[in-house]
Amino acid sequence: MAKDGIQIGTNTLLAHSGNNPRDYFGFVNPPVVHASTVLYPDAASMAGRSQKYTYGTRGTPTMDALTLAVDALEGSAGTIAVPSGLAAVTVPLLAFLAAGDHLLIVDSVYHPTRQFADTMLKRLGVEVEYYDPRIGAGISSLIRPNTRVVFTESPGSNTYEVQDIPAIAKAAHEAGAIVMMDNTWATPLYFKPLDHGVDISIHAATKYPAGHSDVLLGTVSANETHWKQLFDGFCTLGCCSGPDDIYQVLRGLRTMGVRLEHHRKSALDIARWLEEQAGVAQVLHPALESHPDHALWKRDFCGSSGVFSIVLDGGGQKAQHAFLDALKIFGLGYSWGGYESLAVPVHLGDRTLAKGSYAGSLIRLQIGLEDVEDLKADIARGLAAAAAAG
Ligand SMILES: Cc1ncc(COP(=O)(O)O)c(C=O)c1O
Repeated sequence: MAKDGIQIGTNTLLAHSGNNPRDYFGFVNPPVVHASTVLYPDAASMAGRSQKYTYGTRGTPTMDALTLAVDALEGSAGTIAVPSGLAAVTVPLLAFLAAGDHLLIVDSVYHPTRQFADTMLKRLGVEVEYYDPRIGAGISSLIRPNTRVVFTESPGSNTYEVQDIPAIAKAAHEAGAIVMMDNTWATPLYFKPLDHGVDISIHAATKYPAGHSDVLLGTVSANETHWKQLFDGFCTLGCCSGPDDIYQVLRGLRTMGVRLEHHRKSALDIARWLEEQAGVAQVLHPALESHPDHALWKRDFCGSSGVFSIVLDGGGQKAQHAFLDALKIFGLGYSWGGYESLAVPVHLGDRTLAKGSYAGSLIRLQIGLEDVEDLKADIARGLAAAAAAG
């Protein structure tokens, strides 16, 4: 990566992007600007809105500090910061879709994205269709003259299918459709959507960027062609986020590289160990050689994060609940990407295509920053309880 004419690594970029300390008396961190009203010097500048900041919803120096840092990571023309990861999904869809448009969504999508599409978007007259995460270039057979957006998420939530993003982007662009990607799992450190043909990159910054399970925020980054429409949609919806949350995410970004490397190593170590454990039928982690999409993951990604799933070897819901209830270190909670390990039961009841054929119940694990040996001992307690219940 290059900054100010010199080549730098990712951690250097994370430490130094966004704000310029010289802009605020040399203080390393930017001030948190709490703002609704912005004053203008005279009537003419007010009428012409001819100054950098015009109203709190449209941007502040605090928002810019974060969005410029994200632009540097994503290689995007512009980024918006919205109040949650879910808003980072809904705002671009609302900004680009109109009644009569056709929307293609990957079937292994984060469930609330599906909920939004199946309720509000359908009510607004959008035709919603799901596709197999492994469809690749075959997506062209589903594209219609009115297909406006192809929505991707890779790896898919809970089952971690890897999508052939370059092939999908090529087919979508040939038909004049826009490609959006929920890239929360990889972060821009391990996958750069815009470099692979995606137009709009979406992140639940709640997860690894914030990193401490105490902030909700989303970012949406666009390439040059789509930035203006995204920003106009953001301003029209008034879906801006508060300065304290934005500041916390910028703070989190500074250490995201080192945290993510720890998550990556620990999760992979535990995933490999789990492959050898009795009572585990399958480990769904794309960086494992056994994963059906491993080659695709290796081609496009440069790292793996800390969330993956296991399939229990039979036993049904009884075994699944026994596993979860036996855990002493892993918490039972949904929002991942923080410092602490979590486990959740996986339900695939909403899927229409990517249902898979699994030997038993699925459990999603988020591997936190604790000591790996302690986490393995906790999982072993869970597996023993699942075996006893089965
Ligand atoms: C893949 C993915 N996208 C988006 C979100 C939504 O993020 P938030 O919890 O900030 O709304 C989540 C949350 O779990 C997620 O897993």
